[in-house]
Amino acid sequence: MTTNNFGGSAADFGLPSELELESLANSLLSDIDGSLFEPEVCAEGIEELVTNGDTGVFDTAANKASKVFGGQLKTQDFENIIDDLKREAGYDELSGVASEYSGLTDIGGGFRELEDQTSTYERTDANKRSQHTGYAPQVISQQQAASGSDLSVRTTADDRNVIPAKDNAGVDSRTVGGQKGNSQIVIGTKTLEQIRQDFPILQEKVNGNPLIWLDNGATTQRPRQVIDRLSYYYEHENSNVHRGAHTLAAKSTDAYEKARQTVADFIGAPSKDNVVFVRGTTEGINLVAHSYVKPLLQPGDEIIVSLLEHHANIVPWQLVAQETGAVIKVIPVDESGQLILPEYEKLFTKRTKFVSVTHVSNVLGTITPVAELIAIAHRHGVRILIDGAQSIAHIPINVTALDADWFVFSGHKVYAPTGIGAVYGKKEVLEEAKPYHGGGNMIQDVTFERTIYNPAPNKFEAGTGSIGDAVGLGAALDYLNGIGMPAVSKYEHELVTYGMKELGKIQGLHLIGTAANKSSALSFVIDGVSNDAVGQKLDQNGIAVRVGHHCAQPILRHYGLESVVRPTLALYNSFEDIDTLAKVLRSL
Ligand SMILES: Cc1ncc(COP(=O)(O)O)c(C=O)c1O
Repeated sequence: MTTNNFGGSAADFGLPSELELESLANSLLSDIDGSLFEPEVCAEGIEELVTNGDTGVFDTAANKASKVFGGQLKTQDFENIIDDLKREAGYDELSGVASEYSGLTDIGGGFRELEDQTSTYERTDANKRSQHTGYAPQVISQQQAASGSDLSVRTTADDRNVIPAKDNAGVDSRTVGGQKGNSQIVIGTKTLEQIRQDFPILQEKVNGNPLIWLDNGATTQRPRQVIDRLSYYYEHENSNVHRGAHTLAAKSTDAYEKARQTVADFIGAPSKDNVVFVRGTTEGINLVAHSYVKPLLQPGDEIIVSLLEHHANIVPWQLVAQETGAVIKVIPVDESGQLILPEYEKLFTKRTKFVSVTHVSNVLGTITPVAELIAIAHRHGVRILIDGAQSIAHIPINVTALDADWFVFSGHKVYAPTGIGAVYGKKEVLEEAKPYHGGGNMIQDVTFERTIYNPAPNKFEAGTGSIGDAVGLGAALDYLNGIGMPAVSKYEHELVTYGMKELGKIQGLHLIGTAANKSSALSFVIDGVSNDAVGQKLDQNGIAVRVGHHCAQPILRHYGLESVVRPTLALYNSFEDIDTLAKVLRSL
């Protein structure tokens, strides 16, 4: 056995002490400066600790890991990992264990990526890209644009860089797609086949072919459980909430508030009072921008966003910046499409008032290091919002472990209806924020002289909300809980890894977004074939993908592109779906 980081051979351990646990966690989480991540050492350490039967190690390591991984790994995950290692490799095959473990870590955060980050940063000229002092945004009409105004946020031609498929480093390929049938693939409590049966729309034919839904980044499909719950609501419970003294009002209020509790539990919020129902991510970000951030801003103050953002996490900040004279600063990305943390840290000044960053890029699929983004913002005394639109369906979230100030997501991207989403806010920021809209439901008492607001969350829910859809959102999250989010995340990781590998083999196809830690999106362009032609050909074969700028023009332009083809994966997609996709693409 090799000597490990904790100053002795693993065999010397005996029962794990506080210090050993601490050292193990530290060695697991060695960061960019720590440099010494050794999968083999970690595997040994874990193995020994497991042998000694102290499951406390999992809690400790998982807690720490969740800080780095953005809450993606839970105790259960660690236990599963160890079980896999025990079963598949055996304790005496340490190098096998180590490499397996190293692969598994990619589920959560990509140790390799952390390790590589400093050198990647030094290798690229990306730091040149981050020398902007900040954009003073203009939001202008088409007419103004035509008459010569411009947002001036485009990157220069030098900044653009298309990543060839062969640069697909760091995406670990552990699965062999197509070997198992869908009824043999087990995801948590169900087989893939059972999950597919839960989604009636997957039985549809499109242009004579079975539908392959790979437009999950735009919206997901709904399972029978959600559709039935909506029907039940409208058949048995429909009423306005909070206001009636009758049975159905009580039923619908109960269902609505139960859904709020389900959302709170799903994202690890301390209370359902931390959860505000909104129409979706876009409305959520606008709410935070106008109700919480705008009142903080003076001319010259700064808001940090990243180059990866969806327009929904750019334009609201431009609007408040324009109104207040604040400026917007942008976190640059490295060649793989991952945020450059040292550059992020450099953006903070005394004028920084807020940070708003995506958890997962809707175009590149990059999973950003949210825990670190949050920790760094907090070190500078700045609050931060995480846009969870593209993570909520794919990655277990724990806003409390992450210490996020705000977290927003849309229901329709997590198997729930459109028109509903949620804003999570810490108690103190919800108290500080001003009401967003005025009207019924959000008030305690109104006279013509003054209004007394209700406390959060009602303070932000003026008027009648989308009650049935909120109930549907609760049903969608119950559905995922029933399967188990860690299992969903693990399966999707295998799927995305397989997808990157298979698409990467296609001649002339360039994958856009190759971060080691990726979720769902497999964006690409193909030499000599227009993206529209690719989209049409896929549609003829029943495969739904999105083609275009995906409401994320800054990051696409960074790669010198105006459009990409974007297949996005979800829970019900199969290895076979990817094989069919690759087959059609090869025929182009
Ligand atoms: C990362 C991200 N943020 C925000 C949004 C906006 O979500 P919605 O249109 O549901 O408000 C999207 C939608 O695609 C997204 O991908």
